Amino acid sequence: MYNHILRKDPLNAGEVTQMQNRIEILRRFIEDILYSSKGDIRIRSFYYNHMVCVSQFCALIALRRGEDAELATMAGLLHDIHTFIYFDSEKHARKGAVLAREILGELKLTTDEETDKICSAIRHHSKKSGSFSCFDEVLIDADVLEHSLHNITTPPFTKDEERFIKLLDEFDLRNP
Ligand SMILES: [Fe+2]
Repeated sequence: MYNHILRKDPLNAGEVTQMQNRIEILRRFIEDILYSSKGDIRIRSFYYNHMVCVSQFCALIALRRGEDAELATMAGLLHDIHTFIYFDSEKHARKGAVLAREILGELKLTTDEETDKICSAIRHHSKKSGSFSCFDEVLIDADVLEHSLHNITTPPFTKDEERFIKLLDEFDLRNP
């Protein structure tokens, strides 16, 4: 089903290569869905850009907090996968966690423990309050950061405001 990760190297036409880097495999897996889209490309591009930005914020926050930046990046790349594929945001965190588990299982990129960690973060990412693991918190905050910095000239969503201010403090950005 996911054989398309064996793709032609664009710089080496005709030669089929297998990527070894887990983040690149996952990113290209998602890109391939984007490029083969039959639905509204604008909506799918919006979610693609969001997931990539969140994945990069995940890496930044994970590095800051001593969490696993590679797994955090992978969680960010997959966190809105259900909405990205099905254009359906209803219960997308829970459904996305199930879908992410299927994808990671098919791609054989992660151990069971790593899959659990990534899928827990995806399942909890749209809750902004509650008690979560430190790793879950990385994705929750990365999502808030992307929402809030998507257009710096507009105020953050009310639901994100408290976390966004804490993030500005954490990165020493409130009074530069
Ligand atoms: Fe998101």
